[in-house]
Amino acid sequence: MIVLGIETTCDETAAAVVERTPDGRGRMLSNVVLSQVNEHAAFGGVVPEIAARAHVEALDLIIAKAMLDAGLAFEEIDGVAAAAGPGLIGGVIVGLTTAKAIALVQDKPLVAINHLEAHALTARLTDGIAFPYCLFLASGGHTQILAIRGVGDYVRLGTTMDDAIGEAFDKTAKLLGLGYPGGPQVEREAARGNPHRFALPRPMQHRKDADFSLSGLKTALRIEAEQIAPLSDQDVADLCASFQQAVVDVVRDRLRAGLRIFKEQYGAPTALVAAGGVAANQAIRAVLQQVAFDTGTVLVAPPLELCTDNGAMIAWAGAERLALGLSDSLDVAPRARWPLDAIAAGKARPKTAAWK
Ligand code: KG4
Ligand code: ZN
Repeated sequence: MIVLGIETTCDETAAAVVERTPDGRGRMLSNVVLSQVNEHAAFGGVVPEIAARAHVEALDLIIAKAMLDAGLAFEEIDGVAAAAGPGLIGGVIVGLTTAKAIALVQDKPLVAINHLEAHALTARLTDGIAFPYCLFLASGGHTQILAIRGVGDYVRLGTTMDDAIGEAFDKTAKLLGLGYPGGPQVEREAARGNPHRFALPRPMQHRKDADFSLSGLKTALRIEAEQIAPLSDQDVADLCASFQQAVVDVVRDRLRAGLRIFKEQYGAPTALVAAGGVAANQAIRAVLQQVAFDTGTVLVAPPLELCTDNGAMIAWAGAERLALGLSDSLDVAPRARWPLDAIAAGKARPKTAAWK
């Protein structure tokens, strides 16, 4: 089964073609990602209107390139999948409407994919792992620990009460005058800083639940920075290192709690899976590895380009759903909000009128 996938929920315009064999193996035939990072850099974050317009301008070409790279014509694919949310609604509408047009003209099934579901299933494309596994999803918009029990069977074990981890990295970078996106900049500065210089809080530590809270950490960092301003280069590096160390400690503690809950409810997971842009951070990867080892499981971290937003994960999620006979009607609605645990494999998606 061959599926075209389209991703436009944030600041990447992406399309890919993926094949799923009847025994459930995945193969990427193409994967084209155009980052809008330069368009948004001057604003220190993603501007929804600019993002939607950039998707409109680029998407046709990105899809054409994905088809060309795969060496396929539209007649040769078995379905079209698009991220139908959650995300910035302007971009979501662009991608989903384009997918609907292709599905209609080519008479192919349409699959409306939850963007988080696509992140959740990527490890099956890259590593072929079996259910159930524990997913740590950490991006600019989401920080969640989930039990992935089957296609369409997702249970949220923990989430953030306020900021996402990537968002906290981005805000820290902005506060310290570093560029956007902030995560990689903070990581680079942290590498030459002293993680013990500032005593920052570890919010939610030792709680039984697996939830996160990062806004207090961000505020504590701002107060420390204001107290010693103007900041020297070394101050910036030390603040970044202390911040990153606090996040690492929080991730260790919260993931242990999440894995404990997982084991109590569903038995041992087949793996701990990392997803989302934050998994690019080497210190965070190291702590994930350590937690997996300590709790007797293995870490599966898909390659970086598949951890961040891409079309292959959408195409793959589409293929997994199509393989179960699941597709959507052409009036399926784009959704700005769409919690992952609201999905059930066989449940119909809301129609257009319900998209607010
Ligand atoms: O998954 P992603 O590409 O996009 C979505 O948010 O959906 O994640 C982007 C987020 C940004 O907040 C970015 O700062 C963060 O991931 N990020 C990092 C690193 N690279 C990207 N955070 C910490 N360290 C990094 N090396
Ligand atoms: Zn994402």
